[in-house]
Amino acid sequence: MKKNILITGGAGFIGSHVVRLFVNKYPQYNIFNLDALTYAGNLENLTDMSDKENYTFLKGDITNIDFVNSIFAKFNFDGVIHLAAESHVDRSITNPMEFINTNIVGTVVLLNAAKENWKNDFSNKLFYHISTDEVYGSLGETGFFKETTNYDPQSPYSASKASSDHLVRAYNNTYKLPIVISNCSNNYGSHQFPEKLIPLSINNIKNNKPIPIYGKGDNIRDWLFVEDHANAIDVIFHKGKNGETYNIGGINEWTNLDLIHKLCEVMDKKLGREPETSKKLITFVTDRAGHDKRYAIDASKLTKELGWKPSLQFEEGIEKTVDWYLNNEDWVKNIVSGDYAKYYESMYKNR
Ligand code: NAD
Ligand code: DAU
Repeated sequence: MKKNILITGGAGFIGSHVVRLFVNKYPQYNIFNLDALTYAGNLENLTDMSDKENYTFLKGDITNIDFVNSIFAKFNFDGVIHLAAESHVDRSITNPMEFINTNIVGTVVLLNAAKENWKNDFSNKLFYHISTDEVYGSLGETGFFKETTNYDPQSPYSASKASSDHLVRAYNNTYKLPIVISNCSNNYGSHQFPEKLIPLSINNIKNNKPIPIYGKGDNIRDWLFVEDHANAIDVIFHKGKNGETYNIGGINEWTNLDLIHKLCEVMDKKLGREPETSKKLITFVTDRAGHDKRYAIDASKLTKELGWKPSLQFEEGIEKTVDWYLNNEDWVKNIVSGDYAKYYESMYKNR
C-alpha cells in the first residue's frame, strides 16, 4: 500500500536508523524526514539516503505552527513517527526551557496538525510517538517498568517526555486521533552524538582522555542496540493497536562501571593496547543532579502481542559500535571540532 510517512528527528541518532530502515524496506512508501538540524541533527548520518527516490528531507522546526501545517497540507501524510526531541538529560538540567519548548510544545503542534488535516477521515492514519523509559522514574534493586507502571519522571527531560506522552493520549481520548506510544530503554550503536555515555567514552578512550563516571558508577541502565529499536518501531507502526503503549528494552542491565570496564576491554583489543590499559582512564566525577538509580524494562507485551525481541547480544553490539566509531573518524572529528569542545568544557570542567 502506498503511504506518505512523516518521520520527525530523522537526522538524529535513532531517527536516522528509522529513516534508513523504512526507506530501504518500503520502496512503496514516501518517507519525509522533518528535522531542524539542531546540534544533534546531522545530515552526515544519512548520506546513503540522499539519492533515494522515496526519501525527502524537510528542514524545519516542529514548534513552527505555520510550517508544520503547510507540510501536512502539501504532502497529506498517512502516518507520523515522531522522534524529534531534545534528548540529553544533562542539557535538560542546565537548560530546561528548550526541552519544554521542543518536547512538549512541538509535540502539540504536530498533534494539532494531524488532527486538523485528518479530521474528515482518521481511518488508516496513525500518530506514533516515540518516548522513553525515563517517564517511569527510577527503580530500586528489583522490579521492572511495565506499561501499567505509574509515571514518576525525575529530570526536566523525562518530565517533558512524560508530558508529551500525556498529551498524545489526551488527543486519542478527546479527539479520537489514532495513536500508539512506545517507551524504550537506553540505545547504543552507530551515529550517536558523543555527549552520551558510550560514544563519549569511546572518543575519550581513543584519545587517552579521562573517562568521566558520575558518582560511584553504580547506576544501572538497560541497553538496546539501536537497530533493534528501529525494528521494534517498524513492528509497532504496522501492527500496534490504536491507543496502546509498548515498552521496548534490551533485557541487558549493566552498571555504568561494569559497562565501561567492558568497553575498555574491547577497545584495548581493537587498538592493540595491553589489557587493562584503558581502565586507567576512568575518573569518578561529581554525580548528575537527581541521577536516576536504575532503569529496567519489561518488554513482554511487545514480544507476546507483536512478536518482537532483541536480535543482538550486547557483546556483539558493542563490538559493532566500537568498530563503527573507529572506522568513521571523520564523522566524529566533524562533531568534536565544532561547538562540542565548548559543551565539554562547560559540562565537565568543574565536576
Ligand atoms: P538525538 O538528540 O540524537 O536526535 C534528535 C533529533 O531531533 C535531531 O536530529 C534534532 O535535530 C531533531 N530536533 C530537535 N529539536 C527539533 C525541533 N524543534 N524540530 C525539528 N527537529 C528537532 O535523539 P535520539 O537519541 O535519537 O532520540 C530520538 C527520540 O527517541 C527522542 O524522542 C528520545 O526522547 C527518544 N528516546 C531516545 C533514547 C536513547 O537512548 N537515545 C531511548 C528512548 C527514547
Ligand atoms: O533510558 C532512555 C534514555 O537514555 C533516553 O530517553 C535519553 O534520551 C538518553 O540520553 C539516555 O539517557 P541516560 O541519561 O541514561 O543516558 P546517558 O548516556 O547520558 O547516561 C547513561 C548513564 O551514564 C547515566 O547513568 C549517566 C552516566 N554518565 C553519563 C555521561 C554522559 C556518566 O557516568 N558519565 C557521563 O559522562
